[in-house]
Amino acid sequence: MHFLERRIVLITGKGGVGRTTVSAALARAASATGKRVLLTELGDPEGGYSAIGRRFGREHVAPEPVVVAPNLRLNHLWARTGHELFLGNALPGALVRAAVRSKAVDKFLTAAPSFHEMGIFYHLLTLLKATRKDGAPEHELIIIDMPATGHTLALTSLPDILLRLIPGGPIARAMREGQGFLNDPRLGEAWVVTLPEQLPVTEAIELLEGLRETRMAAGGVVLNRYPADPFTPHEREAMAEVLRSTPMHGQLEFERIGAAQHAAQRLLGAVHVPVITLPEVYAADDPDPVPTLTDVLARAMRGTP
Ligand SMILES: Nc1ncnc2c1ncn2[C@@H]1O[C@H](COP(=O)(O)OP(=O)(O)OP(=O)(O)O)[C@@H](O)[C@H]1O
Ligand SMILES: [Mg+2]
Repeated sequence: MHFLERRIVLITGKGGVGRTTVSAALARAASATGKRVLLTELGDPEGGYSAIGRRFGREHVAPEPVVVAPNLRLNHLWARTGHELFLGNALPGALVRAAVRSKAVDKFLTAAPSFHEMGIFYHLLTLLKATRKDGAPEHELIIIDMPATGHTLALTSLPDILLRLIPGGPIARAMREGQGFLNDPRLGEAWVVTLPEQLPVTEAIELLEGLRETRMAAGGVVLNRYPADPFTPHEREAMAEVLRSTPMHGQLEFERIGAAQHAAQRLLGAVHVPVITLPEVYAADDPDPVPTLTDVLARAMRGTP
């Protein structure tokens, strides 16, 4: 896994596949290697709860990073923070805060196409560029729990779109700087989380294509919730034969595992990036799958099976 060498990793995929769970496990495993990790998410910190926060026993997470474990910080990427930071380069601080908090300006910013994404993008850029006294990056690895598919592409395609509209000036400079991180495969990559089922696999393959179109490097695919199979391939064949004539208790589960294997085969045949398989963690033995998944990922990072 090269991802420990990256500065920014986007965790994306369709709704409910486990993006938040995988992001939390990756952040834990990466921070345990000694990297200073920032785990972040998008949204409005003033409304609702924080999905990544809940994985660390916090209902809310602020735009300002907070330490939750050794080498691990959480924060929230917020369009408004980005707008404030951006305007802060041009206007006095008090004026900026007043402007961004005014209802009229807010309405304008939310309505203007791509302005929301631009704010998030700028907040992210500021965190990527933050340095310590010795010049080293404050956040060596930033992992983003991205919202579902469409929003990811809105963010990764933003610099190209804006640069076409506004090729010069401070916005263009920020976009070029951001592209320097996101579109450099040595610095940034996206991981697509999916489930071993037909439709999610199809969507994951399409999302990889979408990422390519926005020049975002794909690090790989996380095949999440892969069910353990108690049968060898030979036993499975024999079992399938029996089940054809004699329906039995457990048949649905037997078929679900078979379908998962089939979906995994299709995924492996269709993609040219690494695929990491994470097990289905059964709630009865482990209500929170994050610790188990962290162990699996930590082994993958060390290159041990
Ligand atoms: N490997 C796993 N084993 C068992 N349960 C899992 C696993 N991965 C995720 N889950 C469970 O699946 C549910 C959805 O996971 P999660 O919230 O991470 O998905 P998501 O993609 O972030 O969803 P959303 O689209 O709502 O943001 C959670 O209840 C989580 O605990
Ligand atoms: Mg989530």
